[in-house]
Amino acid sequence: MRTLPEHAARFLRDAGLVHWDEVACAGARVDPQVSRILHVVAQLEADTAITTQHAHTLGIDRADDIAAFLPQWAAEEAEHARAISVLLQHQTYVPPVAAPPAIARHRRLVARVPRQLFGRLRATGLVYCTLGAAAEYVTVVVYRELVAMVDDQAVEALLHEITHQERRHCAFLLTAARERARAISPVEGHLTRWVLAEMWAPPGVPSLGLDAWRDAFGPFIDDAVLRARVQEMDRIVDTIPHLGDLHLMQQFLEQRAPLAS
Ligand SMILES: [Fe+2]
Ligand SMILES: [Fe+2]
Repeated sequence: MRTLPEHAARFLRDAGLVHWDEVACAGARVDPQVSRILHVVAQLEADTAITTQHAHTLGIDRADDIAAFLPQWAAEEAEHARAISVLLQHQTYVPPVAAPPAIARHRRLVARVPRQLFGRLRATGLVYCTLGAAAEYVTVVVYRELVAMVDDQAVEALLHEITHQERRHCAFLLTAARERARAISPVEGHLTRWVLAEMWAPPGVPSLGLDAWRDAFGPFIDDAVLRARVQEMDRIVDTIPHLGDLHLMQQFLEQRAPLAS
């Protein structure tokens, strides 16, 4: 039997579903504005099932570390979705505007992976892990802020636990990305940079569309301090070989979600 790479073994050592008090959360009251954000967040958590399917479609799960990560990751994210859904069932709020007829993320992502990349498994894996690490980082920032926005102790504890798990997911994907990046050629590195610049969008944009995404995450996008925190994601990507100074989030925010003056 092959030994699992250290980052995968570490990920599995700390694996498990979030602990949360279902009765207390079902009885909690959450601010309507925060509930709207959580509504979208729950949808994104549930979408992880599609993202794991991408790994199968692209053949990335042939790698030992990803094969070990995917089922546990999917289970943990599904529990995040379930917990938030239970919480929201008892809240009064207006859900964010409906997304335009959804273009399935599955079709979009797979269709947009350039043909040259399919035969280059390490580069494809690098794109997948980098997009994943970046998305998990943004999720950490969002949950950390949500913790500060709620008053109820049980809800705060739940969001804390989820934040902790998102950090673990980010750490795994970042290490997996670095390992792949170290093994690729400069040409593959260039290709990867180009693909990432083409494909990157924060979690929620591909499935919601820009308008609905902006409507839901307005408190983050229109606040200079939170915006700066989200943009820290670019420093994380900088630590991956070949991917320095890509400024994925900065470019997105400046071009597609400028600060209202
Ligand atoms: Fe999650
Ligand atoms: Fe996560």
